[in-house]
Amino acid sequence: MMYYRACCPGAKANSKRSGSPRRQAAGSARRRKQDLRAAVLYFGVFPWQTSYMSTTTIESSAPATAPNPDLSVNLKNLRMANPVMTASGTCGYADEYAGFADLSKLGAFVTKSISKLPRPGNESYRVVETRAGMLNAIGLANIGLERFLAEKIPILEKMGVPVIVNVPGWSLDDYGDVAETLDQQVPVVAGIELNVSCPNVKSGLSFGTDPVRLAELVAQVRRRVKRCTLIVKLSPNVTDIALTARAAVEAGADCLSLVNTFTAMVVDIEKGRPVLANGTGGLSGPAIKPIAVYMVHRVYSAVAKAHNIPLIGMGGIQTWQDAAEFILAGASAVAVGTALFIDPSIPQQIVEGLGGYLRRRGKGSLREIVGTLAME
Ligand SMILES: Cc1cc2nc3c(=O)[nH]c(=O)nc-3n(C[C@H](O)[C@H](O)[C@H](O)COP(=O)(O)O)c2cc1C
Repeated sequence: MMYYRACCPGAKANSKRSGSPRRQAAGSARRRKQDLRAAVLYFGVFPWQTSYMSTTTIESSAPATAPNPDLSVNLKNLRMANPVMTASGTCGYADEYAGFADLSKLGAFVTKSISKLPRPGNESYRVVETRAGMLNAIGLANIGLERFLAEKIPILEKMGVPVIVNVPGWSLDDYGDVAETLDQQVPVVAGIELNVSCPNVKSGLSFGTDPVRLAELVAQVRRRVKRCTLIVKLSPNVTDIALTARAAVEAGADCLSLVNTFTAMVVDIEKGRPVLANGTGGLSGPAIKPIAVYMVHRVYSAVAKAHNIPLIGMGGIQTWQDAAEFILAGASAVAVGTALFIDPSIPQQIVEGLGGYLRRRGKGSLREIVGTLAME
């Protein structure tokens, strides 16, 4: 508030105080409101900019009689009844989550990253909360492909929604071997999402930050994946995400998902060292949402629209309004990650909210609004 007072015309310092304590309190509450209004006018703050603080879903005022809009989405040959899926790594292999939310209501379930061999992941601490999100450095801990096929696939087969398996790798063969096995041997897997944020063991650089290396990886996996929808999950840790998006599409990706987490750090000032044992981690949650929306818009307008490539948008989605922003920016589907730690029923709320939004706007299907953001 001091900052607003210093720089907002009309937000004057309140130097004189008089009357009873109750009157003083009422007066200062009124002044705080006036200061805030002055700040809102001065900065041109859009009223929902504080929505990151709440997960409340505002009901739309659609007439109850309007027909249900078509929320279905096709990601190449992967058909989803609605556009909302889980984000990889935020609800395990599904069984961990089954007691908290009705997974059969999802458009699709995305598993955590499944590598060729099991991985213990990083030392603790691996997760830390930040002011508007969280930072994680799990290190892709998982049970490996063999146990995944034996123990988790039977559970996923019963879920009744399309399954997308997220695949990491540290060499071209790591990715290709896991992707080919899933494509050829596991019919319930409808999509393979390549997590290209992992460092290449040869160069130490992430596949997803170098368009040339990324194209080489996607082309190699493309040759080995015949049936499943091949999704490439883009890293946001680049100068222009359209360059890696184009490389992935030209090398044969069916669909792009974006964004993965942003490299970041939280410092323990008493110990004088990073909080996470890994030093750095990936930032997710509401803090990244506006950047993620921009990146979806950038990829849609520069690459995806012309190539007719569907996008899965994610990054800080908590409400149907957040999801609608991504869809208008160009996403055909959305994924919810960090918000699931607050309320596992958020995907279901988003599906209902989007239905109401479309009805209220007189739209018969979700497809009608994808990428319709007016930029002029
Ligand atoms: C705890 C945690 C674990 C994650 N693990 C993975 C993972 O295994 N593979 C992957 O591709 N992305 C992983 N992510 C990234 C998410 O899938 C998602 O891209 C990112 O968190 C942005 O979405 P959100 O803000 O809704 O969480 C993880 C994110 C979190 C918070």
